[in-house]
Amino acid sequence: MTRLAGKIALITGAASGQGAADAELFVREGAAVMLSDIDAAAGEAVAARLSGQGGRALFRAQDVAEEAGWIETVAASVAAFGGLHVLVNNAGIIARQSVIETTLEAWNRTLAVNLTGAMLGMKHAAPAMRDSGGGSIINLSSTAGMTAYDDAAYTASKWGLRGLTKSAVLQFAPWNIRVNSIHPGTIAETSFARLGGEGFEAAAAMSIPLGRLGMPQETAELVLFLASDASSFINGAEIAIDGGYIAAGTVHLRNHLRAEYTRRRN
Ligand SMILES: NC(=O)c1ccc[n+]([C@@H]2O[C@H](COP(=O)([O-])OP(=O)(O)OC[C@H]3O[C@@H](n4cnc5c(N)ncnc54)[C@H](O)[C@@H]3O)[C@@H](O)[C@H]2O)c1
Repeated sequence: MTRLAGKIALITGAASGQGAADAELFVREGAAVMLSDIDAAAGEAVAARLSGQGGRALFRAQDVAEEAGWIETVAASVAAFGGLHVLVNNAGIIARQSVIETTLEAWNRTLAVNLTGAMLGMKHAAPAMRDSGGGSIINLSSTAGMTAYDDAAYTASKWGLRGLTKSAVLQFAPWNIRVNSIHPGTIAETSFARLGGEGFEAAAAMSIPLGRLGMPQETAELVLFLASDASSFINGAEIAIDGGYIAAGTVHLRNHLRAEYTRRRN
């Protein structure tokens, strides 16, 4: 259990869902972790649980859309643990509004959290990572950053984050910092899945060739791999973790529909 021994990591949105699973796995694998989230009560509770199990975990309240908070959070991570090697830009929100429905307020807030937040994170964490000898940045995009999705602002933010990741590769490679984006499909036990509305989780599972939603522990394994030295030559990659949805979801659904069509005709 030492895949991250000696590493110091900062994970945003770590109070719940995938971020909390990342923090738990990172700590178990030997990392010191600064958890941050806008939800202070839930974030404190996760950090306290991990510390109680003997892990090195601290929490800091942070809104990733605020630049001043990034400067303070990065400084606090370095002060507490002595450096920084890994940044996981995980915090994200969704408004569930189509283009016609989108309010300017929801559009601006979604882009501020999902895209500007990740940009600010890289801007302020990368120099500390450079001074620690380099490291790895993992940006949480989505399958909504690879194909269409219902929410206009969310889709735009996740496509934007995929592109921003490539730009960061150019700048940070000389600092020995790798930057990759991951693209989860629908992940269970997250507010994203829970708040999708009636039929959302069932329909999502039907569209995934593996026939089920992913689990936060499964995306955490990918984040861990990209954070660790085991992925030392992976840089600028975009990795779908979606049970085959991007690769084969369309034909998979077509086959469902064909079977249904045949059943009704007979
Ligand atoms: N769950 C899915 O199906 C799914 C699929 C693809 C991508 N994603 C992405 O995965 C990431 C993690 O989300 P999750 O699935 O764990 O959902 P989640 O809602 O359970 O967790 C998101 C966390 O981000 C925090 N957060 C929200 N706004 C914040 C802000 N301004 N500053 C700091 N923290 C903030 C929330 O408090 C929450 O703890 C998100 O970027 C999301 O877009 C999720």
